[in-house]
Amino acid sequence: MFELGKINTPDKQEFYKQLNTYLVGLVSEETDWLANISNASALLFLMMPDINWAGFYLYKNGELVLGPFQGKPACVRIALGKGVCGTAAATGEIQVVEDVHEFPGHIACDADSKSEIVLPVIQNDKLIGVLDIDSPVKARFDKQDAEGLSDFIGILKQFVSNWGLR
Ligand code: SME
Repeated sequence: MFELGKINTPDKQEFYKQLNTYLVGLVSEETDWLANISNASALLFLMMPDINWAGFYLYKNGELVLGPFQGKPACVRIALGKGVCGTAAATGEIQVVEDVHEFPGHIACDADSKSEIVLPVIQNDKLIGVLDIDSPVKARFDKQDAEGLSDFIGILKQFVSNWGLR
């Protein structure tokens, strides 16, 4: 059992500092990759205000396949270059989408989603997958979220070495 108090701050930098401290606590003593990224998605979903989906798509056999997540059941397979996730995976660049309805090819998994952030996970020059977070609020994510979540992924990469895939 982990006792994780709510993070109560309007300051995003401070929020991610505390969130990432929790993440280190959750994953640093455990070596099982699936357990660690499962807990990582649960931590995001529990702590981040105004989100309705948080989880991973993992790169397998040339496409993204749904991994550990929290939220409504989602589409399972996404081709590289398709939707926000496939674009992040294909370009290796973080996607911050203020209005998903304006994003060409956006894949709607939950009709409530209005904005989205997707970060590619790349380790040793190999695409591992993406971290995807959706919000029912327009323009929920900004540069500070991109920075804080990049650190979040950096911590995961430090403690999750082979992601069970190779
Ligand atoms: N909206 C994503 C698909 C995944 S769901 O949001 C969970 C996309 O366009 O890639």
